[in-house]
Amino acid sequence: MRLDRFLAETTELTRSLAKKALHRGEVSVNGEVIKQPASQVGESDRVEWDGQPLVLVGLRYVMLNKPTGVECSARRGLYPRVVEFIDLPKAERLQAVGRLDVDTTGLVLLTDDGQWSHRVTAPRKRCAKVYRATLAEPLAGEALAAAVKCFEEGILLEGEEKPTLPARLVMRNDYEAELTLYEGRYHQVKRMFAAIGNHVTALHRESVGPLTLGSLELGEWRELSPDEVAMFA
Ligand code: URA
Repeated sequence: MRLDRFLAETTELTRSLAKKALHRGEVSVNGEVIKQPASQVGESDRVEWDGQPLVLVGLRYVMLNKPTGVECSARRGLYPRVVEFIDLPKAERLQAVGRLDVDTTGLVLLTDDGQWSHRVTAPRKRCAKVYRATLAEPLAGEALAAAVKCFEEGILLEGEEKPTLPARLVMRNDYEAELTLYEGRYHQVKRMFAAIGNHVTALHRESVGPLTLGSLELGEWRELSPDEVAMFA
């Protein structure tokens, strides 16, 4: 990897500030001051900036139990962002793997590995996401049978050209729905229930593929194990 990129990845310096630090002679590689941004460094090289050793962090994979009032967007907006919960170096670089609405709680994955993120979210990968939706109106009997059929066959949401992929609906009680989706369209759960004349008053994501929140409380996070990361190969 180029030395200026290495510096940008391991410090708070941007690439152009890294070049300036190099130019000022603040960076050494294996004890020798190096000023060329294009110099190549690898894992075995000892890189120091102002005498401080720099360590390249690998790709990171994290799960968070997102509270309400928190947004998945990487950009600063009205609400706190999911990355602000993650106490890791360079957490700002992590991106949510499929977004939850501000008022939705539950399992959010974050990573800086774009290919892995794609494997989790691409509809053709058929990765199941399970949601628990609280409904404003009870859903039972014939209306439930019709909804199950409708979600299983796919519905055309307003403004879209393709019907939703087959989804599985099970009621835990008359107001509590468990909906399993294999894709992640904008406000999908809320729009699907709106399409059958109901309204979602609370929404929580319980699982993504084989991953569940386990004992993570709202606002808590943890890194995934290598085995968990490999589950989305
Ligand atoms: N569907 C929704 O409507 N909202 C979410 O946050 C996730 C899925």
